Formats: sequence, structure tokens, C-alpha cells
Amino acid sequence: MTGTPKFAVFASGSGSNFQAIHDAVKAGKVPGQAVLVVTDKPDAFVVERAKKVGIKTLAIKPSSFSSKQAYEQAVLDKLSELKVEWIILAGYMRLIGDVLLGAYPNRIINIHPSLLPSFPGKDAIGQAMEHGVKVTGVTVHYVDAGMDTGPILAQAAVEVVSGNREKTEERIHAVEHELYTKTLQQLWSR
Ligand code: GRF
Repeated sequence: MTGTPKFAVFASGSGSNFQAIHDAVKAGKVPGQAVLVVTDKPDAFVVERAKKVGIKTLAIKPSSFSSKQAYEQAVLDKLSELKVEWIILAGYMRLIGDVLLGAYPNRIINIHPSLLPSFPGKDAIGQAMEHGVKVTGVTVHYVDAGMDTGPILAQAAVEVVSGNREKTEERIHAVEHELYTKTLQQLWSR
């Protein structure tokens, strides 16, 4: 791929992955251009992060629309206006529906804190600890209509710190930041 693809990051929480991707772009390590942060949670910390680094935000609640399609159409209108080419999900806690999947075929990427197909869905770290696995990890994958089911782009293993969720989570986040930026760098340098 040539040029610098314009992308939007979708997030519902802290946005540490958004921050890592943004920092990597600024450092010239990822050949893309972040043009928008989309959140379904207007109070999420990611909004502050985006404002601090001067990136536009679209913070609208799905519940203020009559349907999921109507919500996604409003998001799509903004993405089209800004000529966004890729959607990067980073802790966006919603399934992507037909409207966005149809508009961005093979152009939506997600990061998930487990070695998929193990522990899909919510609280993957809690699921892994509960199960007693010794090694879990991180997966970057294309998004399809399922829950964390799309084709896998990259994975990295992370050792569980036995009985210590906080430390395990710290390790996972550090690996996420590295793996997401590296994967986007490779994807957009092809
Ligand atoms: C990450 O663990 C990501 O894998 C999951 O949600 C978390 C988001 O963290 N989907 P942050 O908001 O990027 O800090």
C-alpha cells in the first residue's frame, strides 16, 4: 500500500491503545494518519486523550438513535466526510453492524486481550485467569460480523502472573501497544 492511509480509532474506555498508535504515528513508525476518534461513551478518557493531541472526536450515544443502523449511519457520515479509509478498534465495546461492515470490507481491525479463539468476548483477561491458564496473550484481527472471530493478523503470548490480575493486565497492555503498532506498520507498508 502506498501513501498514508487515513484512519479512525474507535474506543469506549481509557484509550491507551489509541495513545500508543498516535505516538507511533507521530514518531514516524506507523505510516498512517489518525483523523478521528469515535466513542460510544462521551465520558470515556479517550476523549480527553484525543483532545490533548488535537484529534477530532465523535462522541455520540447509540441510545439516542432509533436503531443500530441509524447510529452507524451517523458515524459513517462523519467517516465519509473525513475520507477515513480504515477503522481501528481499540477497546470499542460494541459489535460492528452491517452498515460499517458493508462500507469498510476488510478495512476494520481489532485488538483483543487473549490468544483467540480462546476467551472471546468480554473480560478476556478475567476469563483466562479464571480458567487457570499459564499463558494468555494478545490478538490483532480483521473484524467480521462475529464476536472476535475475524481472520487473525498477529498474535503474541503473555505469561499470566499467577493470582495477580493487575500485573497480568499491565503485561498484556504493554504487549498490546507494541503489537498493534507493529501490525499496522506492517499492514500499511505493504
Ligand atoms: C484492551 O485490552 C483491548 O484489547 C480491549 O480493550 C482494552 C482497551 O484498553 N479490546 P485501552 O482503552 O486501549 O486502554
